Amino acid sequence: MTSVVPARTSAELIGAEEPVLAHNYHPLPVVVARAEGAWVEDVEGRRYLDMLAGYSALNFGHRHPALIEAAHRQLDRLTLTSRAFHNDRLAEFAERLAALTGLDMVLPMNTGAEAVESGIKVARKWAYDVKGVPADRATIVVAADNFHGRTTTIVSFSTDEVARAGFGPFTPGFRVVPYNDLAALEAAVDETTAAVLIEPIQGEAGVIVPDDGYLAGVRELTRRAGCLFVADEIQSGLGRTGRTLAVEHESVVPDVVLLGKALGGGIVPVSAVVARREVLQVLRPGEHGSTFGGNPLAAAVGTAVVELLETGEFQRRATELGGILREGLETLVGKGVVGFRSRGLWAGVDVDPALGTGREVSERLMREGVLVKDTHGSTIRLAPPLTVTAEELQGALHTLEKVLARQV
Ligand SMILES: Cc1ncc(COP(=O)(O)O)c(C=O)c1O
Repeated sequence: MTSVVPARTSAELIGAEEPVLAHNYHPLPVVVARAEGAWVEDVEGRRYLDMLAGYSALNFGHRHPALIEAAHRQLDRLTLTSRAFHNDRLAEFAERLAALTGLDMVLPMNTGAEAVESGIKVARKWAYDVKGVPADRATIVVAADNFHGRTTTIVSFSTDEVARAGFGPFTPGFRVVPYNDLAALEAAVDETTAAVLIEPIQGEAGVIVPDDGYLAGVRELTRRAGCLFVADEIQSGLGRTGRTLAVEHESVVPDVVLLGKALGGGIVPVSAVVARREVLQVLRPGEHGSTFGGNPLAAAVGTAVVELLETGEFQRRATELGGILREGLETLVGKGVVGFRSRGLWAGVDVDPALGTGREVSERLMREGVLVKDTHGSTIRLAPPLTVTAEELQGALHTLEKVLARQV
C-alpha cells in the first residue's frame, strides 16, 4: 500500500531542511510549489512575482509552453545516450547555437561552472598547441570581483574571501586585475597569456556595467597580444541585456563565449563553450568530456531556447522593458535608492543602508509578493523573466517604492 504523506506547511518544510541539507545557501523563507510565466506560488497558495528568474536561468519565464512541449516530446522518445554514441538531436543544437552566436563550434556541457572550467582547459590547450607557450606556463588574466562559479579552480581566482577561505590549495596560473581597467589589463598580459576571461557585465558583483569602450578595448588588446578573449555570458547572455550576447552592445565577437543558465530553458542544466574553430579544434577524443553534456533532452530543450532567441522577440522585450525599469529606478533615486546600474532587463540597485541590508529589503519585498535577492551589502538585483509584462514590472517597482518608504 502506498503511504500518503500529509502535506507540510512552508514553516515545516523549512524546518525539515535544516538537519539534512548542507547550509551552503541562505534562501529567503519562501517555499515554492508551482510556477507559471513570471509568477510563482508557495505551499500555502500565496503568489509572488519572480523578479530574480533563477539568476537568469528563467529568462523565458517558468514553464514556457514551447520549451515544455519540446521537453515533453523528447522525454517520450530518447533522454540519454552519453557521448559514447551519437544522438539525433545534438547536431541541430550545435549548428543553431553556433549560428546564433556568430561562432563556429560548440562544446556542450551542463552547468555554468563546467563551461568555465572547460573554457579554461581549452584556452590552455590552445596556448600550448597553437600559440607555443612553454609547457605548464600558461596564464589567464581575470578581473577582480569576478564570479565564474564554485569549483576549486574557479575559486582559486576569486577575490571573494567567503568563496575561498578554507578551500585551498589553489590552482595557479591566474592573474587578477581590476575590472573596467584596460591599462591594468595591458600590463598583466604577456607572452604566457592564453586568455583574458571576463564577464561583459559583472552579475554577482552587483550588475557592474563597464564603461563604453571597455569590451571593444579588451577585444583589441587580446587581438594585438595574440591571446584569446573568453567572455563569460552565463548570466549576461541569451537576451537578458537586450541583445543575444552582452558583448554585442559594443559589436564585439570574442574568441570564446561561455553560456549556461537560460540555455536550459529553466528545465534542465545546459551549458556550452562556443568558440572559433581554430580554438575548439584543439580538443581530441579523451581529453575532455562529460557523461551528460549534449544529451538528447538537453539538446532538444537547448534547440528550443535557440529557436526562441532567433525570433529576436526576447531581446526586444528586454530593451523595451529595460527602459521602463530604468525610468522607474530613476524616480526612486533619493527615495531609498542611492544608485543603480542597469542594462536591458537587469539591474543592481543600491539601497540606502539606513533602510536595511539587501537581505532585509528582499524579505520585506517577499512579504509584499515580490521575489528578489540581495548580492552584497545593501545591493539587490532585479532580473525578471523577459516575459514579464510592463504592468507587472511597474507593479514590482511600486512595491519597491512602498517598501523603501516603509509604507508596508
Ligand atoms: C557569470 C557566471 N559564470 C558562471 C556561473 C556559474 O554557473 P553555475 O551556477 O551553473 O555553475 C554563474 C552563476 O551565477 C555566473 O553568473
